[in-house]
Amino acid sequence: MRSSIFDNSKDIFLDTVNAKDFVQLDRVSTIYQSLKDSVNKPLKMILLYGKPGTGKSMFLTKLYHDLSQSKKVYLYNTPILDESEFYKTLAHDLLDVKYRGELNYTQFMKIINEHIVDENPDNIPIILLDEAQLYSATLMENIRLLSDTRKVKFVITLHKTEKEDLIAKEHFQTRIWESIELENASASELKMYIQKKLMKANCFDSASMFQMKSINLIYKLTSGNYRDTNKLLYTLFEIYTWYNENNPIKINRSNISNKLIEMAALHTGLIND
Ligand SMILES: Nc1ncnc2c1ncn2[C@@H]1O[C@H](COP(=O)(O)OP(=O)(O)O)[C@@H](O)[C@H]1O
Ligand SMILES: [Mg+2]
Repeated sequence: MRSSIFDNSKDIFLDTVNAKDFVQLDRVSTIYQSLKDSVNKPLKMILLYGKPGTGKSMFLTKLYHDLSQSKKVYLYNTPILDESEFYKTLAHDLLDVKYRGELNYTQFMKIINEHIVDENPDNIPIILLDEAQLYSATLMENIRLLSDTRKVKFVITLHKTEKEDLIAKEHFQTRIWESIELENASASELKMYIQKKLMKANCFDSASMFQMKSINLIYKLTSGNYRDTNKLLYTLFEIYTWYNENNPIKINRSNISNKLIEMAALHTGLIND
């Protein structure tokens, strides 16, 4: 049987977040570098925001991976919604302090002040919180107060919605914050994203099948959103795998078919019939 190049290509577009899968794109790399620079500045908090699927979790995971060699860094992908649980987890992970029963903000602050005496800003523990829009307003306010002590530093990601834009205005636009916005890819960035992702996995044949004609259609369907693009391409390669096994003469191996892109878009719900 013919090799399953389409099957391999499909799995590249699974919606997973691993630092090793990070794709360098001009704008993405510039923004990532400014995020890394911000971490080294005496800022108390760094806010990473953008619509779902723009790569926030990917940035945070990559940052964790890159910083973990030289700094004390802690990543929380899933929000710890219970306030006491949140402080207990941090006390345990950062300071190796095990606490029984409830732990409130005041007690936690005391633990922080007792245990973190190092004044060297390079040794500050860096806490990465993904999906921070899920934390309560009270907990967010306490996280802000914690940062004011300059004994810990937070990098948080926030989904951008109309409502949260207001929050961003009130809370986050002071000098203690650096805010970095992630956006969807442009059509040419989308082409780079797709081709680089495939080439990283040695799928050179499928990478070369993406001409601008197909990219423009994919861009039209996904607006350059990385998650929607992953979903679309996963399904597209699923369709290609099926044809490859059942009706191989039907597929043109030099170009991606726009008909099949549309079929994939129907399957994933990006267009309605
Ligand atoms: N720079 C990038 N390199 C490789 N994959 C990326 C990149 N940015 C986003 N992705 C992929 O796009 C998908 C959505 O990204 P994610 O970080 O989960 O978005 P968000 O957290 O903003 O909703 C993920 O599956 C991720 O693998
Ligand atoms: Mg995310």
